[in-house]
Amino acid sequence: MRQPSIMLLLLLPLLFSAPSTSTPRDFDFFYFVLQWPGSFCDTKKSCCYPATGKPTADFSIHGLWPNYADGSYPSNCDRQNAYDASQIADLMESLRSHWPSLACPSDDESTFWKHEWQKHGTCSESVLDQHAYFGAALRLRAQINLLQALQDAGIKPDGGLYSSADISSAIRNSTGFEPKLGCNADGGGNRQLYEVSMCVDAKGERLIECPVSSISNCPSRVEFPQF
Ligand SMILES: *[C@@H]1O[C@H](CO)[C@@H](O)[C@H](O)[C@H]1NC(C)=O
Repeated sequence: MRQPSIMLLLLLPLLFSAPSTSTPRDFDFFYFVLQWPGSFCDTKKSCCYPATGKPTADFSIHGLWPNYADGSYPSNCDRQNAYDASQIADLMESLRSHWPSLACPSDDESTFWKHEWQKHGTCSESVLDQHAYFGAALRLRAQINLLQALQDAGIKPDGGLYSSADISSAIRNSTGFEPKLGCNADGGGNRQLYEVSMCVDAKGERLIECPVSSISNCPSRVEFPQF
């Protein structure tokens, strides 16, 4: 019998150390999703301000969502890893400013963060623990000034109608990357700019071109409502 090659001997431990089946497969990138509060609040459902009062009129964080390159995404990956506010105590002030909840009824402030951690954050825990996850979202938010980018291009939250292509172009010009725009409808049924998603590398550090071709649900002209 031939001796197995030294190479094979070196590889054997790797071949037999397959990850356990309960581990979600590695995700490929994040969607970093920002929302315009005016478009959350002027819908038929309306909104409720957090206990800290009306948030500033600026884009705020909706979430940082692990995604696969085929367009699908994992969710609720680890029910053991419960949201723990004490791990992010030093981030609370920034979270209140940049990741406010506008849902009704006006809730315990951390309900939104808890939901985002359980549904999405636990799927990237191999890369980012809770503190790193919320910290990464806040750092990305600080890197991307969407409102300034739009205003520099003459696109203002004044209830006017703007071209979706111009909105994308202004964001691309400012960030270097193509956004994915999301729209919803105001109380009168008019389509309006609601969300802007940017793609981020799987470390949660920097913007990348989206690996998935993104189909926007916005019409060619959209409202940009006041807040
Ligand atoms: C983005 O930059 C291009 C090239 O400089 C320019 O033609 C275009 O008008 C800019 N877009 C917006 C919305 O300002």
